[in-house]
Amino acid sequence: MKVQEGKESSAPQISWENILTSLEDGVIVVDRHGKISFFNQAAEILTDLPASKALQQPCSRLFKRSGWLIDMIRKSQPPQQSSTRGEGDFVTQWGHRVPVSMTVSPLQDQYGRSLGSILLLHDLTRRKEMEEDLKRADRLAMLGTLAAGLAHEIKNPLGGIKGAAQLLRRETDRIPSIAQYTDIMIREVDRVNLLIEQLLDLSRPAKLDLVSLNIHELLNDVLLLERQTVQEHQVVVKQNYDPSLPPIRGDRGQLTQVFLNLIRNALQAMNGRGCLTLTTRIETDFHIREPGRGRENFIWVDVEDDGPGIREEDLPHIFSPFYTTKTNGTGLGLAICYRIIKEHGGLIRVESRKGKGASFKVSLPVAD
Ligand SMILES: Nc1ncnc2c1ncn2[C@@H]1O[C@H](COP(=O)(O)OP(=O)(O)OP(=O)(O)O)[C@@H](O)[C@H]1O
Ligand SMILES: [Mg+2]
Repeated sequence: MKVQEGKESSAPQISWENILTSLEDGVIVVDRHGKISFFNQAAEILTDLPASKALQQPCSRLFKRSGWLIDMIRKSQPPQQSSTRGEGDFVTQWGHRVPVSMTVSPLQDQYGRSLGSILLLHDLTRRKEMEEDLKRADRLAMLGTLAAGLAHEIKNPLGGIKGAAQLLRRETDRIPSIAQYTDIMIREVDRVNLLIEQLLDLSRPAKLDLVSLNIHELLNDVLLLERQTVQEHQVVVKQNYDPSLPPIRGDRGQLTQVFLNLIRNALQAMNGRGCLTLTTRIETDFHIREPGRGRENFIWVDVEDDGPGIREEDLPHIFSPFYTTKTNGTGLGLAICYRIIKEHGGLIRVESRKGKGASFKVSLPVAD
């Protein structure tokens, strides 16, 4: 018994501070005068603000860009002293928006006197991303049904037009001015056909030919395809490859298309001048929150450029089919990338700010 007591007394003490610091949710205490008196580590990460800068500061100043939060804190203070829960964007001092849910409760002593408010902040970024993924998958499925029906109807008359144009071309071979028009007709029909094929690709589930792949070889092959564009312009390519990367399981053709689309987008964005960086890294025990999926090992490939970046208002749409800001783009490139990566069981994310370039991050499961 005594030994046990001895053992107990040598066990490390667990303080409230330890508990609050270890929580994944942000905990902030605002005192009766509206000043911050506690700020845990998760709150620092979520608000992008060190505790040293937050403590003793009036919350009305720190949270001035998130008015809804200040209203909730006010309601939790006398005379109302009510507990409320809300969702909205927390706007950091740098202007980043972080979707959060917040519960604000009045903080009282044992006599019910107000000591201030306690705020519990939960980061909703992952949840929102997953909701977005689901919506996107729904939109693609809907588009698929529509596309399959339309494509069938359009492909037959297009075949007729092309055949007729080719006959006309043969008949008028000796009249260059007319031959010029028929050539345009044939070329444009081919373009529409290609578009329909891409649309059909997007809608029907692809049969993946999965093999063990060295992602660095695949990236180098894609760079080779784009060699001419790179050499003709002042573009520097940096390859930050992790040599210890294990092989992945993937479809060579489909993944080549993904990285070709991403690299082409980056080169187009930089418009002939800039730096394209390809980075590979491994992440062990990465958890995809999907039914039936546990912890798996993933590799990540980042395709980064230092071009003009993507406007905040464009970001939610760039993976949608036909969303393009280019005069001659189809807007199908990223929608196709999204579908292929999803079918490989991976993820595709983008980080970008106007004027700061874009970074597309692709994760792929490691081969068993
Ligand atoms: N690296 C990037 N930098 C800036 N904007 C980008 C970048 N990559 C994609 N975008 C934006 O996303 C949009 C959609 O890209 P997506 O590849 O799907 O279509 P697109 O490039 O416009 O057309 P397509 O790929 O058919 O030629 C682009 O029009 C552009 O606005
Ligand atoms: Mg593109």
